[in-house]
Amino acid sequence: MTDAGQGTAGRGTVVVVPTYDESLTLPGTLERLRRAVPDADVLVVDDGSPDGTGDLAEKMAAADPAVHVMHRTGKQGLGSAYIAGFRWALARGYDVVCEMDADGSHRPEELPALLARLEAEPHVDLVIGARWVPGGKVVNWPLHREVLSRGANLYTRIMLGLGVGDATGGFRAFRAPMLARLDLSSVASHGYCFQVDMTMRVIDAGGAVGEVPITFVEREAGVSKMSRSIIVEALGKVTLWGFQRRGRQVAGMFSRR
Ligand code: GDD
Ligand code: MN
Repeated sequence: MTDAGQGTAGRGTVVVVPTYDESLTLPGTLERLRRAVPDADVLVVDDGSPDGTGDLAEKMAAADPAVHVMHRTGKQGLGSAYIAGFRWALARGYDVVCEMDADGSHRPEELPALLARLEAEPHVDLVIGARWVPGGKVVNWPLHREVLSRGANLYTRIMLGLGVGDATGGFRAFRAPMLARLDLSSVASHGYCFQVDMTMRVIDAGGAVGEVPITFVEREAGVSKMSRSIIVEALGKVTLWGFQRRGRQVAGMFSRR
């Protein structure tokens, strides 16, 4: 791992980019990101990609002091990659911690709009770059992915009532003090339900969530890591959280009497 120095307050923004076999798309994404948000640092969290993404990231880090790399052994899931990245960022005192996919689906050119929203609205702790809100778009996604994502968000809305249009979206900006308040060690979500988990935790901690419409562009190279087990985990977790919340609401009704 490359080191960025420890603990100085007000170190600006860092974008955490998780990677697993993204050697075809990571260089272009990072190049665009560095151009779109020159002041932001980047942390690539690679899970020992067999295709050499980790070495590639290391080469980019050697050429650019704003780029950092964390290497983990084996594919451990999107959720745990982000938690590791968040801890790294909090230990280094960044003010804002972002999430972004490495495959170009999240357009780096849209990150300034997310950051501007965070800046403009001091009460907002999390800004989601959202597909399923007015103005949001998806380009080149096969119908089954659109149905899956819309369905997941509809189910999440019914079960959890978070009042968010795109709770599964992975293009985000968190205010670091909010992340620091959350108990990250209790986050057990491995796959894409991690995004729902974090949204719920921010809201439960009293934070406000803002959404900025984005255009999500399907990757042009490499393959999605979406899998049946990721879907099963998400369905199971959202259902469980939904019942837990209902249970708490009912208990609250009785205790108020
Ligand atoms: N380190 C690490 N470990 N990275 C991972 C892992 C993992 O186990 N699994 C996926 N990633 C990385 C990918 O390399 C990529 O940079 C990013 O996470 C997103 O993975 P994709 O496989 O491209 O996701 P997708 O395009 O199918 O899914 C999109 O929609 C989901 C549901 O709305 C993404 O935007 C997700 O963030 C989103 O949750
Ligand atoms: Mn993708």
